[in-house]
Amino acid sequence: MEGIFMKGIILHGGAGTRLRPLTFSGPKQLIPVANKPISQYVLEDLRDSGIREIAIILGNIYPEKVINHYGDGSRFGVKITYIHQGEPKGIAHAVGLCKEFVAGDDFIVYLGDNLIQHGIKKYLDEFQNGEYDGYILLKEVEDPTRFGVAKFDEGGNLIDVIEKPKQPPSNYAVIGIYFFKPVVFDVIKELKPSWRGEYEITDTIRLMMQKGYKVGYSIIDGWWFDTGKKDDILQVNSIILDERIKREIKGETINSRIDGRVTIGEGSKIINSTVRGPCIIGRNCIIEDSYIGPYTSIGDNTRIIRSSIEFSIVLEKVTIEGIDRLEESLIGENAKLIKASKRNAIKLNIGDYSEVIL
Ligand code: TTP
Repeated sequence: MEGIFMKGIILHGGAGTRLRPLTFSGPKQLIPVANKPISQYVLEDLRDSGIREIAIILGNIYPEKVINHYGDGSRFGVKITYIHQGEPKGIAHAVGLCKEFVAGDDFIVYLGDNLIQHGIKKYLDEFQNGEYDGYILLKEVEDPTRFGVAKFDEGGNLIDVIEKPKQPPSNYAVIGIYFFKPVVFDVIKELKPSWRGEYEITDTIRLMMQKGYKVGYSIIDGWWFDTGKKDDILQVNSIILDERIKREIKGETINSRIDGRVTIGEGSKIINSTVRGPCIIGRNCIIEDSYIGPYTSIGDNTRIIRSSIEFSIVLEKVTIEGIDRLEESLIGENAKLIKASKRNAIKLNIGDYSEVIL
């Protein structure tokens, strides 16, 4: 596909406190869903919409891991510029660092942990055709108090956006994908930090409207996930496995039963086990005397022995042995879960902020 004259910005910073301990060793946007980092879905959505020039905003949590994964972007068919934000001073602060990169073009800001079912192309066209200065996407939610929320007048016109309101003016949350013309940089310059000390994107949008700039919106079809918490990541993992995983078995299966849409990577061995899709098992894994149930993603070089697991994400180089029923779990790289003996004693060596629910 030919590229279009618009740029993309992926926010890859933030503190990631709600996803500790995984975010002690990497940014949350690199946590894999169906064995692919969350932010890679974002980058591919931008690319598939025709965007070729992308800036990735880096935070303080192992930014080198982001650079290592995406490189100069050529592997993904795009050109990447890295911009260091460091401390998370707010989404508008991150956008404000991109004026030189944007260089007068229209652009999209995409939070690196937000995913939408049908991608951005349709909204990108609406933004461009409507000659808006800013354009936001909304989704109806049950509890709007956790989000930026849209306020409409009686005619259905957007008149305000309010961050985490105690009394929400509507049920429409502002999702983490925004379209702007470069005038937004003049507005960002005028912002003051909010009560939580951040330069807020909602303040930016409301100030744009107050200054008479044209801000449009669309209510999106399909699902939207903000993957800031474990349960959201597990849910989006199950949906993406359901929607995209094909039956593709490259590894070896010995005396095992593989049911439904299951992907098994090269070099993996499934021995005396049952695997039930939708499910993905990476490369060079050993699964022995085990049950891998639906909605499970297993990273490369993982060993699962005499265990059963479902509705979970297991990252790379993990060992799980003798664990009878593991569910709704998110297990970080190099973790070991081993049931050593029949005694009831539990022996743990776990990091800060780990969660063990027995
Ligand atoms: P949040 O999810 O609000 O950021 P966080 O990582 O600080 O989360 P937590 O509450 O768990 O500590 O941010 C939304 C997205 O924007 C996320 O992808 C991180 C990114 N971000 C930045 O890149 N820079 C920033 O200054 C902020 C505030 C967020």
